[in-house]
Amino acid sequence: MSGFIGRVGNSCVKEKLLSALNLLQFKDDDSTGVLFCNKEGQHLYRVVGKVDELVTLIPEEVDGYMGIAHTRWSTYMHQVLENVYPLSSENGYVTLVVNGLIDNIQMIKRRLVKRGYSFRSSSAVEVVANLIEDGAVENEDPLRALHRAMQQLEGDYALLAVFNGNCKKIFFAKNGVPLIIGKNHDGMVICTDYTPIADQADEYYYPNDGELGYLTSDNMVLYDGKLKQRKPSFTEVSVSEKTLELGDYPHYMLKEIEEAPGVIRRLINNYFDGTKYRFDDRLIKRIIDAGTIVFIAAGTSYNAALVGQRYLRNFNKKVDVFIASEWIFYPYQSGEDTLYVLISQSGETADILKCLRTIRAYGADVLAITNVEISTLYQSADYRLLLHAGTEVSVASTKAYIAQITLLSLLYARLVNKITTIAALERVIEALYNIISRRDTIKAIADQIYKSGDVFFLGRGFDYDVAVEAQLKLKETSYIHAEAYQGGEMLHGPIALIEENTPVIFFISDSLTVAATREVIREMRDRKANVIVCSLAPFNHDGDSFIISNPIKGYHSPITFAVFAQYLAYYCAVNLGRDVDKPRNLTKAVKDRSV
Ligand code: AGP
Repeated sequence: MSGFIGRVGNSCVKEKLLSALNLLQFKDDDSTGVLFCNKEGQHLYRVVGKVDELVTLIPEEVDGYMGIAHTRWSTYMHQVLENVYPLSSENGYVTLVVNGLIDNIQMIKRRLVKRGYSFRSSSAVEVVANLIEDGAVENEDPLRALHRAMQQLEGDYALLAVFNGNCKKIFFAKNGVPLIIGKNHDGMVICTDYTPIADQADEYYYPNDGELGYLTSDNMVLYDGKLKQRKPSFTEVSVSEKTLELGDYPHYMLKEIEEAPGVIRRLINNYFDGTKYRFDDRLIKRIIDAGTIVFIAAGTSYNAALVGQRYLRNFNKKVDVFIASEWIFYPYQSGEDTLYVLISQSGETADILKCLRTIRAYGADVLAITNVEISTLYQSADYRLLLHAGTEVSVASTKAYIAQITLLSLLYARLVNKITTIAALERVIEALYNIISRRDTIKAIADQIYKSGDVFFLGRGFDYDVAVEAQLKLKETSYIHAEAYQGGEMLHGPIALIEENTPVIFFISDSLTVAATREVIREMRDRKANVIVCSLAPFNHDGDSFIISNPIKGYHSPITFAVFAQYLAYYCAVNLGRDVDKPRNLTKAVKDRSV
């Protein structure tokens, strides 16, 4: 979609800036640019193309202790070089990268044209640059010029500004669009996303809306919207969140699938002290007091919420689950004592943040469950639970889903004071290691199905919830059309789609439903479907394709089946030559379109 990064350090920034830009780059991005500043001045490189092409334009000797870079997918039909960021003001006073949507840009542009400005591009960023230049008073600190411009801009945006003649400060402003500032011994970094800079900082600051300031190699100077200086408090981020190295893995997705046992271990260590659970008592009381629990999430996080819903219903709670992009338009309210649980790996999904704003307007309480401490969702919630999954790089969410279900099961266990859940999770960890050791069996199943046009996933109860996640994973990574149905629903229409050899994948984990599901399997076999059964050992039959033989509880079965499904999607995608970590048309956190 669109994102930027800036770095000012005690050493050359090129390598770090460009590697972060690569991580920031969305698969369909069509333009990118970078500005380096050094003693000789400013060096600007831009390209209608990808970061790889940008790199070829930059002479080896060009580097600097400061730089800003941008990548985007343009909203124009055909991107042209004039519109690629960074963009400078007419007389080169300031060069900018901007993310967001500025509502009154046309009005500002008309005003600037009347004042004699001409425009080389059709980009809103050039308008903002000229606005800053126009308002600047001779010999005035650029900060004031930036502040003056901010007061005229309407809309949501975050920006970085480099002023001519000043190669030691990156200025920034934030209003409604995510922005994260990090620091370590080697310098300061600023980005629209956490993941690309996770390994470049030890501490982070998350600016509030309306704030602005500047970064030097070892400091941040911060101001509020009234230009009053503020003292920021940086948050330390644990080492586990910063593991960005791919190691010997060919793809992040595979690496992240195989991190699942470690993620569960980390969650146990964080939420259980050896004898009792470690959840905030205020949160537990709030859940107990809540008349209704409303889960809101998108994509994989929504699928995890489906599982969470079943856990909390056992706690005699009224629980609803909504897709974030639906709830925004139909914000069902279920009483004043409702607790809204917003689940989001990134904590930055635009639809989730819109829901957050609406809930805030109700004055209701929000529990955030997210993987990113330095995220809008985490920072704005009344109650917070961290997923501790470590940075998830692959666009397809894998370990975060495992973390979401595990955390929800721990929360449920705390509510009902069930210590045996810890032993049950230990067995899940064992089961996952066993699945990892049998990944070739799953690869063989992928080899059998990857050329299919349609794949169906079926299950009942928890098995349906994981089927929903399995179809999403397969679709998004391999582009194979996949659907999930509750076991019995297959007979009410979708069965018409079953042809000879159509893969139909069943999950079976529950004694209550096993007989009924085996009936559906028979129906599928009668139609010569390619039936693949993934079962827990107590419910297996001869010929089941993948059996989880370690003793695990049915309510933890989604964790094990999910890892099976993640491998299956991964191997299908690899067989089809897909760009596994950056599937087409997708982005890690779905944000609004940008300028
Ligand atoms: C997951 O594999 C997807 N790429 C996507 O559905 C994702 O889960 C969804 O966009 C929600 O993201 P979030 O958890 O960061 O809010």
